[in-house]
Amino acid sequence: MSTTSQHDAGPLGAIKIAPSILACDFARLNDHIDEVGEESDWLHVDVMDGHFVPNISIGPPVVASLRKHTNAFLDCHLMITDPADYLEAFANAGASSVTLHVEIGDLTDTIALARRLGMRVGVAANPDTGFEMIAPYLPLVDLVLCMTVFPGFGGQSFMPEVLPKIAQVRAAIDARSYACELEVDGGIDLATTAAVVEAGATVLVAGSAIFGAVDPKGAAAALRAKAL
Ligand code: DX5
Ligand code: ZN
Repeated sequence: MSTTSQHDAGPLGAIKIAPSILACDFARLNDHIDEVGEESDWLHVDVMDGHFVPNISIGPPVVASLRKHTNAFLDCHLMITDPADYLEAFANAGASSVTLHVEIGDLTDTIALARRLGMRVGVAANPDTGFEMIAPYLPLVDLVLCMTVFPGFGGQSFMPEVLPKIAQVRAAIDARSYACELEVDGGIDLATTAAVVEAGATVLVAGSAIFGAVDPKGAAAALRAKAL
């Protein structure tokens, strides 16, 4: 089994660019990943089950294929109703972290299972899910993901109304010095990066803004420059 320690997550709190492979041509994943090169800190892998979200994407077999090609930190965003049933498959495939949605119910046991399997673990919240749903997990997780669009599809518009919640999560992390990254996902581009970083985000997921660009590596570098 592949364990998280093999995959470098980078220094806690440093800005990380996480290109979302949802915006790739899935038949050319290796090429796209190589195109972004060292401007990619993590690779964001969107897993959708057609149930938690109204779309179906990819799962453990694609994570395993990616893992044969790269040592990158594979940040797996599980938009699925029953993650516990699949965590072993993700761990065996070489996932570095799994992020679970708080809307599906109590995640305490699933978080513990992910850790036993050697993965890092995060919790995700939809744009209309309140901070109070996230707060209990802060001592337990490595990552909080604040969705800045409703999950399911790439290429949607950023929702600025999520910014106060991002700032609230940042304040809570800092107040207790939790070892926790704060990730944003959805509509992140050159126009929205400054606001999310100002609110306290440290991990920026971007699909269309990177893989939809003529020069994905340049686009990732430009996002990083905006964030610093
Ligand atoms: C949406 C996914 C996102 C998506 C972001 O449900 O979770 O990761 O790929 O795509 P962009 O950056 O195009 O909004
Ligand atoms: Zn995502």
